[in-house]
Amino acid sequence: MHHLHHIDEEDKEIIKKFLDVKHYDPDAFDPEILNDLEADKEYQSLLTFYGSDILGSENYIKLKSFIQHGNVTVFEHSIHVALCAIKLNRKMGIGGREREIIRGALLHDYFLYDWHDGEAPGNIHPKLHGFYHPGIALKNATRDFTLSEREKEIIKKHMWPLTVKPPRCREAWVVCMADKYASTLETLKIRKGKIRVNYA
Ligand SMILES: [Fe+2]
Ligand SMILES: [Fe+2]
Repeated sequence: MHHLHHIDEEDKEIIKKFLDVKHYDPDAFDPEILNDLEADKEYQSLLTFYGSDILGSENYIKLKSFIQHGNVTVFEHSIHVALCAIKLNRKMGIGGREREIIRGALLHDYFLYDWHDGEAPGNIHPKLHGFYHPGIALKNATRDFTLSEREKEIIKKHMWPLTVKPPRCREAWVVCMADKYASTLETLKIRKGKIRVNYA
């Protein structure tokens, strides 16, 4: 499986399941998964092993002050996406590089403004946040950190299918799916049973 966009029927079904948020069965998705992942010592140590420069930086801490949805901050959301991405990558046997998956996931929403506030500095396209924030996150991330091409691709394509052009590496596929998956779990955690996802 060298290029994940050459996918077979079974892969398509799995991907569809993750992406087709409207058809989630709330009973089959237990938001406790997020708590379990957060408590997992091995996953925690992977995050610090590969992402300590990011997690410890002054700018990254700012994500704790921005809300992603409900009462989940962009910081918490980014951690969730990284944890879910490691899990998906392992459970589905995708074979993406964990270092790049983690770093890309941590920075995928590094846009550094309150996307709900149309007047917030940096929020230049408030009505089209979904389209523009990957590019803004990428610009901020390359300014503040040294990133590989795969890590950049992860940030750039995480909003696929909105990006139209699909992810070009398996690491970017994994984070794209993990973002939708984590957002759904977060929303379920907030309103168990009633799904209203507005993922970013
Ligand atoms: Fe996003
Ligand atoms: Fe996200």
